[in-house]
Amino acid sequence: MASQQDQAAVGQLLPKPSRRFEEASQSRRARGNLPTKPAVIPDTIGWVRRWICFVALLVAGCSTSTPLPPITQVDTPGPDTPTAVATTLADTAPSDAPDRSEERIHMVESQIEARDITDPNVLEAIRTVPRHRFVPDNVSDQAYEDYPLPIGHGQTISQPYIVALMSEALGVGPGDKVLEIGTGSGYQAAVLAAMGCEVYTIEIIPELATAADATLAALGYTVTVAAGDGYFGWPEIGPYDGIIVTAAPDHVPQPLIDQLGPDAALVIPVGPIGAMQTMWRFTADAAGDITGENLGGVLFVPFTRTAE
Ligand SMILES: C[S@@+](CC[C@H](N)C(=O)[O-])C[C@H]1O[C@@H](n2cnc3c(N)ncnc32)[C@H](O)[C@@H]1O
Repeated sequence: MASQQDQAAVGQLLPKPSRRFEEASQSRRARGNLPTKPAVIPDTIGWVRRWICFVALLVAGCSTSTPLPPITQVDTPGPDTPTAVATTLADTAPSDAPDRSEERIHMVESQIEARDITDPNVLEAIRTVPRHRFVPDNVSDQAYEDYPLPIGHGQTISQPYIVALMSEALGVGPGDKVLEIGTGSGYQAAVLAAMGCEVYTIEIIPELATAADATLAALGYTVTVAAGDGYFGWPEIGPYDGIIVTAAPDHVPQPLIDQLGPDAALVIPVGPIGAMQTMWRFTADAAGDITGENLGGVLFVPFTRTAE
């Protein structure tokens, strides 16, 4: 079993589940007047107060409002339209292979319901999707443990609780169109598909995109997988009822905000590489006003702009 230090190095951990969803006090126009850099704190006392608040947020949830992270409009043109990966069927497990449903039932009870995830559609999807089929054989025995696991290429499959938290925060259900940035193993996409969503997912590492596509197809999940940089989203398919990002950029990509449909949510970790980040849920109203909610501290792999 991996040590806590190893787990932190390979994926995201939520140090302490915080279910206090606090509404940020600011509501801002999606386009135009958002800062491109975090506000500069002018005085030492301000810095000290913010550090105290930051630490308190990580430990127990901070009761004051948190400034929204920057949302940036890039000037460089977007890449070509993402192209769906051609499916090649992966080996299917032998029909007598254990389905491990009892481990999933226990996982949902002890790791997910115990942390106040209540959406029955999310809980049922996680009871159903065989997480052990999305991880390499050498860590398959740990597939239902409470931490992320390595999936190759320096990437991870997320901690099950984080998958549940983000799926619930998206607020989507059967028939909703969802875009995921950061396919990884394909597990999060499978959970959303099991919830009845129409799922599109983009992965920057081509080998992972191909492998995830094959796994999803072999297990019978209808998910459209594309290889490429997800920074620009997939505008030809949008707008979306929900967008979920499973790697952490240092700012919110404006193109993803632009592809939110009415009352849709963008769930995204934002923050510096290698340090604690903040999980945000952004929602856009009909007028284009964006509201951000701080869902707590997380640690995700970086959002990169190339597959290297
Ligand atoms: C924590 S892993 C994703 C876990 C995944 N959702 C799963 O269920 O296995 C983050 C993934 O985001 C990918 N990624 C990072 N930057 C990206 C980008 N700009 N566009 C698309 N994918 C990106 C990484 O290659 C990695 O596979």
